[in-house]
Amino acid sequence: MTILQRYQQLLASGEITPDSAQQLAAERLDALAQTLHRTPARPFKSRRFFGLFGSGAEASETGLKGLYLYGPVGRGKSMLMDMFHDEVTITPRRRLHFHEFMQGAHSLIHKKRQRGAGGDSPIVQAADEIADSAKLLCFDEMEVRDIADAMVLARLFTRLFERGVVVVTTSNRHPDELYRRGLHRDRFLPFIALLKDKVEVLDLGDGKDYRRDRLVGEDLYLTPLGRAARDKVDAAFEALTDGSPAEPDVVVVNAREVAVPRAAKSVARFRFDEICGIALGPSDYLAIAQRYRAIVIDGIPRMTDDIRDKARRFITLVDALYERRCQFVCSAEVPVEELYAGVDWGFEFDRTVSRLLEMRSISYLQEPHRA
Ligand SMILES: Nc1ncnc2c1ncn2[C@@H]1O[C@H](COP(=O)(O)OP(=O)(O)O)[C@@H](O)[C@H]1O
Ligand SMILES: [Mg+2]
Repeated sequence: MTILQRYQQLLASGEITPDSAQQLAAERLDALAQTLHRTPARPFKSRRFFGLFGSGAEASETGLKGLYLYGPVGRGKSMLMDMFHDEVTITPRRRLHFHEFMQGAHSLIHKKRQRGAGGDSPIVQAADEIADSAKLLCFDEMEVRDIADAMVLARLFTRLFERGVVVVTTSNRHPDELYRRGLHRDRFLPFIALLKDKVEVLDLGDGKDYRRDRLVGEDLYLTPLGRAARDKVDAAFEALTDGSPAEPDVVVVNAREVAVPRAAKSVARFRFDEICGIALGPSDYLAIAQRYRAIVIDGIPRMTDDIRDKARRFITLVDALYERRCQFVCSAEVPVEELYAGVDWGFEFDRTVSRLLEMRSISYLQEPHRA
């Protein structure tokens, strides 16, 4: 089936409602798939002739433009990208969350560096290995959070594009807004220019937030804090774990151990400060989200800029839980819409709120855990 046919089918069956921005995106994705299917197979594995032809010898740039879908939450960006990824027949291809991709890229670069091989830089070598593993990369939620990512992106993607890799991605922001207030942003600008040259940028901004439609039940988010909330959280944890006693556990992330104070039957329970009050990062939260099918958090406070680091970690945690389709139960000081009372992460927190709302819906709860 083509992507447009699949999209029409969802419309016809009533699973989704017409949306002109989505229609346009589906058309562009469909056109890209057709072009990809027509593009003759190129010699895929890199053939390396060190010293003979130099490092550009195996490059095979196709000139094909990928797609960059951006817009606010709940606009169907991930749905469209997944549809594309499922219907396109190019192999090998990969679909992954952008953070996960960057984590993998950093560890690959690290490995190459340790090996200390001469010739191409570790970043180019890492890009070559990635290009060997996928002709098409589909990323969900491209976002640049730290300087470590910002400083390797241009070189990494220059090489990926030279190797003919096509990128389709979703994002909450226009490329020009990536890493917006980041350190040494001037050194990041070449990546933006490169990206805009290699992907068509499509705005899905105007339209409905479809996530809000499907909210049900209040009992997974308990507020205000107090005896009643606590009892209900206890009951939820018991139900999730068949009443098994909770015990301390550890999750190993890159040879480090992250302590989990209470866990049973693949469900972990933390007090807010035990998971957002200590120095954990995206890879820790992803590992936790992978390991446990449900996470229970007690005592989420209203977040002001006084606890901006905790708020930042909470955003990252919710992203990880959502990506892995973890079930989520918590008690909180205030309703979800009032949870963020700071300024610094206002933009990012909109997504967190939207996700927390969706994570209470029946359809989210029925989705399998992506371990
Ligand atoms: N046109 C539509 N009609 C009804 N529901 C939709 C439509 N587009 C998307 N949805 C639903 O809205 C939810 C959010 O979509 P998603 O792709 O996750 O959005 P985004 O990635 O832009 O945040 C999904 O459950 C999706 O199935
Ligand atoms: Mg999405």
